[in-house]
Amino acid sequence: MNGGAAAGSGGKAAPAAPLRLQHYLVMAGVAAAVVLACLRYAPPAAGYGLLAVAPPAEAAARIGAVAVARAADGGEAGAGAAVRDDLTPAAPAPEPASAVVIFNFGDSNSDTGGMAAVNGMNINLPEGRTFFRRPTGRLSDGRLVIDFICESLHTPYLSPYLKALGADFRNGVNFAIGGSTATPGGSPFSLDVQLHQWLYFRARSMEMINLGQRPPIDREGFRRAIYTIDIGQNDLSAYMHLPFEQVVAKIPAIVAQIKYTIETLYSHGARKFWIHGTGALGCLPQKLAIPRDDDADLDAHGCLKTYNAAARRFNAQLAAAIGQLRQRMVDAALVFVDMYAIKYDLVANHTAHGIARPLMACCGYGGPPYNYNHFKACMSAEMQLCDVGARLISWDGVHFTEAANAIVAAKVLTGDYSTPRVTIASLVNSTLLPNDG
Ligand SMILES: *[C@@H]1O[C@H](CO)[C@@H](O)[C@H](O)[C@H]1NC(C)=O
Ligand SMILES: *[C@@H]1O[C@H](CO)[C@@H](O)[C@H](O)[C@H]1NC(C)=O
Repeated sequence: MNGGAAAGSGGKAAPAAPLRLQHYLVMAGVAAAVVLACLRYAPPAAGYGLLAVAPPAEAAARIGAVAVARAADGGEAGAGAAVRDDLTPAAPAPEPASAVVIFNFGDSNSDTGGMAAVNGMNINLPEGRTFFRRPTGRLSDGRLVIDFICESLHTPYLSPYLKALGADFRNGVNFAIGGSTATPGGSPFSLDVQLHQWLYFRARSMEMINLGQRPPIDREGFRRAIYTIDIGQNDLSAYMHLPFEQVVAKIPAIVAQIKYTIETLYSHGARKFWIHGTGALGCLPQKLAIPRDDDADLDAHGCLKTYNAAARRFNAQLAAAIGQLRQRMVDAALVFVDMYAIKYDLVANHTAHGIARPLMACCGYGGPPYNYNHFKACMSAEMQLCDVGARLISWDGVHFTEAANAIVAAKVLTGDYSTPRVTIASLVNSTLLPNDG
């Protein structure tokens, strides 16, 4: 990761004024000191600029009154809100094990609060403003794709592995941490660390079983679980300052790390894998806001061709690696999901999706066309915020809005973008999947 120099906006020096959450997607290895310093940002003042609607507190109060009906708040605890005494050996009449178990690995695209928990970050509104009505540690105004997947499977949202209070692991564990890379050492919780955390969690669970105790996930749960992986965006982003051929040369090592993770999970009994490719990085406002000499690298939809070409190369190699594993792991389901096709379509066909400005961040600075400024990002004192209900793809220049995540998830759930063409729901109860490659 070469020190994790961000490709973003050419700015490497990081004065500790605003809390730039986008860094957790792009910048690997952010020092804890910097994180803590960044936390001490001033609450937003007035003066919101063109996009401004209301300071977060006011906006929160307004939206809070509207849709309590959606009652998302309870969602996180969900079925897990019941009293938990699983660890007591003599616990009588245990609840039946969850039908759905998901172990998720990834970066901020699927981090449901791990980064906030581990860093002790006090993430504030407007993060979470649209759905949860409070910040949950997700870098979005609402739900992530993984949340919609959980909803579709009628299981509670996943608890972050490192969330000490209120975590419920009966339906799985979320090891994803914002900023994570597949490349070891590229970030504090790179994929190898997440894998080791899972190995630890599994070993500890087996130890408890041997002691006659009941861990939240039993032997059968580990075997039956769906292992979801969504990582690679930070690795690619960190290399994009290099000439394209050098970026391409880095891809095999990133893919190999994901492949190794699948192999290790498999050797410990995992059989159902659901792996997301990376998105259209060249359509993200953060990338588009990087100063450029001219617009020669922009495609017909205004996205950066080079970034998107790198993303497609990565996806092609990842899909090929998964194809190889499929030949070997004949008793496993290995599903690759073409997130690039889904996310690029969202930009290219944005009007069909009811989106007016596909390349502009909702929460950022500077107004159109991108509303993104590396030094005045979302959560900084000067952020400019779009209206609640405005249908934009990008929440903060890097992460998607709840509205966009909902569209992406709906497409993921069709199975139409999967290789092989199966739905994630079909994996839940299957014991053995035909491996037709
Ligand atoms: C836009 O939508 C049309 C019709 O659904 C589809 O054929 C086309 O592939 C989409 N474009 C992109 C870039 O995904
Ligand atoms: C799995 O099986 C259970 C029990 O038969 C059923 O209630 C559930 O709906 C099934 N889940 C899916 C996603 O098919």
